[in-house]
Amino acid sequence: MCGIVGYIGSQQAYPILIEGLKRLEYRGYDSAGVALQNGKIHVYKKRGKVVELENFVGDAGVNATVGMGHTRWATHGEPSDLNSHPHSSRSGKFALIHNGIIENYAVLKEKLSRHGYTFESATDTEVLVQLIDFFSNEGAHNAEEAVRLALHEVVGAYGIVVMASDEPDQLIVARKGSPIVLGIGEGEYIVASDAAPIIAYTKDVIYLEEEGMAILRKDGYEIKTIGNIPRTPLLERIEMELETIEKGGYDYFMLKEIMEQPRSIAESIRGRVNKDNGVVWLGGLVDVQDRLRNARRVIFVACGTSWHAGLVAEYLFEDFARIPVEVEYASEFRYRNPIIYPDDVVIAISQSGETADTLAAIQLAKEAGALVMGVVNVVGSSIARGTEAGVYIHAGPEIGVASTKAFTSQVTVLTLMAVYIAQLRGTATPEMRSAMKELLNVPALVEKILESNDYIHSIAEEFRDATNFLYLGRGLNFPVALEGALKLKEISYIHAEGYPAAEMKHGPIALIDANMPVMFIATKDESYDKIVSNLQEVVTRGGRVIAVVSEGDTNIRDLAEFVIEVPQTNPLLTPLLTVIPQQLLSYHIAMMRGCDVDQPRNLAKSVTVE
Ligand code: M6R
Repeated sequence: MCGIVGYIGSQQAYPILIEGLKRLEYRGYDSAGVALQNGKIHVYKKRGKVVELENFVGDAGVNATVGMGHTRWATHGEPSDLNSHPHSSRSGKFALIHNGIIENYAVLKEKLSRHGYTFESATDTEVLVQLIDFFSNEGAHNAEEAVRLALHEVVGAYGIVVMASDEPDQLIVARKGSPIVLGIGEGEYIVASDAAPIIAYTKDVIYLEEEGMAILRKDGYEIKTIGNIPRTPLLERIEMELETIEKGGYDYFMLKEIMEQPRSIAESIRGRVNKDNGVVWLGGLVDVQDRLRNARRVIFVACGTSWHAGLVAEYLFEDFARIPVEVEYASEFRYRNPIIYPDDVVIAISQSGETADTLAAIQLAKEAGALVMGVVNVVGSSIARGTEAGVYIHAGPEIGVASTKAFTSQVTVLTLMAVYIAQLRGTATPEMRSAMKELLNVPALVEKILESNDYIHSIAEEFRDATNFLYLGRGLNFPVALEGALKLKEISYIHAEGYPAAEMKHGPIALIDANMPVMFIATKDESYDKIVSNLQEVVTRGGRVIAVVSEGDTNIRDLAEFVIEVPQTNPLLTPLLTVIPQQLLSYHIAMMRGCDVDQPRNLAKSVTVE
C-alpha cells in the first residue's frame, strides 16, 4: 500500500517520477505528491489520482535531477492535500515519503511536541520527518545519521526515501517490513516500491534487505544496515518486459488480465508436467522432498482471493496427497497462538508476496520450526525471499486491483503441488496422471469460455442494478462462489455473499425473492444432483437464477433464467473454468455502473499494512 519512487541522476526527475507514480498507482490512489530538489526542496501534492497532481503541477517546470514521489493509500489521516506525501519538517530541511505505518507515532509526537514541534497533518509520517529534524538539531553529523537515529526510535513498518536540502545530491532510503527495490542504471538510480517504475531504465536491481539502508548519490551508492554496518549489494537482473505492465490495447488492466488467462495458465504449467505420462516436476520443491514426504499436515495462510485458492487446494491436497490440510486467514492465524508442529508445512499463497499479515504468519511458522513455503507471483518479493522453498505461479504482473489471472495460476500451481506431493508420498494414481494431462488442455478450454464474453455482457445488462447477489457452489466450486462474490463486491460495490449451496437452507434461503439474483456454479460432478435440488428450491421461491453449467447440460437450462456453459473437463479442474464467467460478469456489471474496475474505491493492490 502506497507507492514510493525516487530518482537521482542526470535526467529531469519530474517526468520520471510521474511515470513511475502511474505505474505504482495500483498500490494506492488517495493522493499523490512529488518533491524536487534544486538547491531547495519543492513539494507539490494533491488529493486524488496522479493525474490530479499532474494538472496541479502544470508547467511549474522545476529544473531538478533529484526527486521523489508518492502515491498514497490513506491509513492515518483522511485523503487530503495536507495529509499527502511528501511531508516536510518544520525547518523545511527534510522531506520524506513513506510506505508503512509508524505504530508509536503518538508517543513520538508527544515527545516532539514537548520540544516545540507542531504538526500540520494527521499522519504518522509527518512525525517521522520531524523526528529526523529533531535529531539533526540535536547534533547528528549529517542527514544520514539523523535518519538512522530517528529510525531507532520507530516501532512499525516503513519503506522511506528522505531528501535533505543542505545535502542536495543524495537520496536516503531505508526499509523495515515494506519493500524497496533499487534500480542501478548508468550514472542514475531509481528507487521504488516495486520494479514497475524501474524497468524502463534498467533491469539491474538490488532488493534492499530487511532493516537495510541505501545512500544514493549521483556518483555512486552505499548499501548498509540501519545499524550502519556496510553490506555487499547483491545485484540481480529482473526478467520483466515493459509490455507486461502496459494495457496492450485494452482500456482496463482487469479485462486484459482476464483475457490473458489462457497464456498465464499455460505459463504456470510450462515445464512442470510430462505430457506423455502426466508426471509432475517442481524444481522449487526438490530440496524439501523429504520434509514433504514426512509432513504431518499442511497449513495454507493467505488473504482474499489467495485464501480462496487455498480452499480449492484443501480439497486437492487431501484428495491427492492424503494429507490433512487447514486453510487459515493469515490475519487470524498470526494472532491466535496457533499450534504449529516442526513437521508441519506452512504454505503462504500470495500474488504480491508482500501482504503484511501473510508475512507475519510465515514468520510465526518459521519460529515454530515448520517448513515454510511460498506460492507467489512477484519474483523477488518478500514472501518469495523469506520462504525456504516454493513455486512461482508465473502469471506475469497483475495490475488490476481485483485479482483474476493470479487466482487461476495459483489454483493451477496448487493442483500441480498436490500431485507432486502425492507422487512423493506414494498416493498418486493413474487418474491423477490423466488429470494432469487434461490440465495441459485447460488453457484452450479457458479460451473457449472467453468467447462467451458478449453473452455474459448481456446477462450483466439484466443485473446491473441489483443491490444484492448470492453465489452458491459445492465442493471445489464453493471457493469459486466465494471468489465470484468477492469479485462482484470489490469492483461493483454490490453486496454479494458466497455460500456452500447446501448451507442455503440453514439461513440464506430467507433472502430469496424476485430481487435476489443467485449465481449457481453447478457443473457435472458427484454433488450435481444435490445442487440441482438447491437450484430448484431457489426457483420455487422466485429467485432469479444464473447458472454456470457443464456444456450440454439441458436439465438446468430448463430451470435457470440464464445458463453459461463451460466445457467438460476432469471435475477436479473445474474451478479453473467456472471462475472465468464470474470474473467477466463482475467486470461488465461494474463497468455498466460506472465503477473504476482497476482502482476500486478504498482498495489497494498489495496490503502491506496490518
Ligand atoms: O497479494 P496477495 O495475494 O497476498 O493479496 C491478497 C488479497 O489482498 C487480494 O487477493 C485481494 O483480496 C484482492 N483485491 C482480491 O481481488
